[in-house]
Amino acid sequence: MDSERDSRYFSRQELESMRFRHLGRNVLISRTTRIYDPEYVAIGDHSIVDDFCVLSGNLQVGRNVHIAHGCRVIAGREGVLMDDFSGLAFGVTIFAQSDDYTGEALTNPTVPMQYRRIARARVELGRHVIIGAGTVVFPGVMLAEGSSVGACSMVTRSTEAWAVYVGVPAKKVRERSRRMLQLEKEYLQQEGSDDAVPAGSVVGPGA
Ligand SMILES: CC(C)(COP(=O)(O)OP(=O)(O)OC[C@H]1O[C@@H](n2cnc3c(N)ncnc32)[C@H](O)[C@@H]1OP(=O)(O)O)[C@@H](O)C(=O)NCCC(=O)NCCS
Repeated sequence: MDSERDSRYFSRQELESMRFRHLGRNVLISRTTRIYDPEYVAIGDHSIVDDFCVLSGNLQVGRNVHIAHGCRVIAGREGVLMDDFSGLAFGVTIFAQSDDYTGEALTNPTVPMQYRRIARARVELGRHVIIGAGTVVFPGVMLAEGSSVGACSMVTRSTEAWAVYVGVPAKKVRERSRRMLQLEKEYLQQEGSDDAVPAGSVVGPGA
């Protein structure tokens, strides 16, 4: 990685001083991203978190996971799992907790907790799940392995494996190819060789 790109990310030493629950090899986290409680966050090998993200709560990130610019993952107590090779495109929001919007309780953090009612439910993204730009994922959603979600969608229900979803609320529109599983196998066999160096995030004119 060249020095200009390198300076966008925290150094290994800086990351280690943040005391993550787990910090894999070759992890890149942008200096402009905020992680509220790193001690609740585990991040696996070769994962990248780009600029202007906010990550909070009990967040478990596997290997080769990408969180693109401007994402928010509010994992809360119940937690969010992003399994290996999963990814969020620009501006995705995932939350594992929400105020009660029915009017039965007061809302928002300016009032004491006894007047609020917070729904909490874990969110999971299986291996190879990808979520398109601007999509929102609700508490309790389980995105099964290999499912994908188009841009600007709203995911309120769990998905079937290896299927493509779009829309508000997100609906299945087709099956998704499993060819990537063969490519994963080839990549993992090559790991450690020059042919398997992660591409990194490049969004400038050279992308
Ligand atoms: C979901 C997606 C993968 C489908 O791509 P595709 O297979 O090429 O599908 P098409 O563009 O042929 O669209 C098929 C239909 O779904 C609709 N559609 C496509 N994406 C949609 C979306 N995100 N939300 C709602 N409808 C969508 C199209 O309008 C079209 O409808 P029609 O048949 O009534 O005309 C793609 O549209 C998408 O959203 N990709 C995410 C891109 C992204 O966020 N990238 C981030 C940078 S990496």
